[in-house]
Amino acid sequence: MTPPSNVARHPAAANTLKNVVAVASGKGGVGKTWFSITLTQALAGLGRNMLLFDGDLGLANVDVQLGLMPEHDISTVVAGKVGFETAIRPYSNGRFDVLAGRSGSGSLAALTPQKLKALRDGLMTVAPSYDAVILDLAAGIDDNLRLLAGLSSICLVVTTDEPTALTDAYALIKVMTAAGRQRTLRIVVNMAASKKDGEATYRTLLKACESFLKISPPLAGIVRRDEKVRDVIRRQVPVLTRYPTCPAADDVSAIAGRLSGDI
Ligand SMILES: Nc1ncnc2c1ncn2[C@@H]1O[C@H](COP(=O)(O)OP(=O)(O)OP(=O)(O)O)[C@@H](O)[C@H]1O
Ligand SMILES: [Mg+2]
Repeated sequence: MTPPSNVARHPAAANTLKNVVAVASGKGGVGKTWFSITLTQALAGLGRNMLLFDGDLGLANVDVQLGLMPEHDISTVVAGKVGFETAIRPYSNGRFDVLAGRSGSGSLAALTPQKLKALRDGLMTVAPSYDAVILDLAAGIDDNLRLLAGLSSICLVVTTDEPTALTDAYALIKVMTAAGRQRTLRIVVNMAASKKDGEATYRTLLKACESFLKISPPLAGIVRRDEKVRDVIRRQVPVLTRYPTCPAADDVSAIAGRLSGDI
């Protein structure tokens, strides 16, 4: 049978997983890992069976932000030492499962094709056991990152109002669009001084996308800058556990509520 033309042109599209939400950014340090943890916990709080998958192998921060000391992690899984099921652990504090990475274990960009395939196959194997998987990705726009992001049915592109973050978010959107994945893209503006400022940041990015790429990625939501985020990262606890109604937690909960209808 002849595959549909979009699948033929973009083979990765054939492997799209409808319950995987990727969190990517282009620029580092915009809050992807913190946002991924909080979104996972918020969706778990809505009764969803969730897996948080640390796809940032080189500088894995999920374990650090949650204070985990994983016996096994993604690097041991892709090295073929243990199976995915062995490395996935429940995080009882948030009622979701975690597949941790390990800082310093080698970067996603440097994964060999075999290990990347093992990672991709593993994600495809475990995803059906969950209502949704949140995939916390590394910064950047390299091939491996694009391949993993391309597996998701929704790719949340996180930016802040900094020109470098906006430029790198645009670069990510551009390469995802070139790969035929533009319909999966949604924007998250993090660390916004106010909702109004966040909307202005979104409009700036939207204008560039409309002018140069002829696409209009929708806004997933705005997350306000909140000192409580630093505090919980220092304490290695999730914000929804310690400050469930602080502004940033409220904002991510609202995004989870809107996303829950689509996953
Ligand atoms: N809404 C927020 N309000 C205040 N600070 C925030 C917020 N979101 C993130 N931060 C700050 O940004 C820092 C970086 O967050 P995080 O490690 O989650 O980013 P990242 O995008 O995953 O980084 P990397 O690209 O290195 O993986 C955190 O240590 C935290 O202090
Ligand atoms: Mg991170």
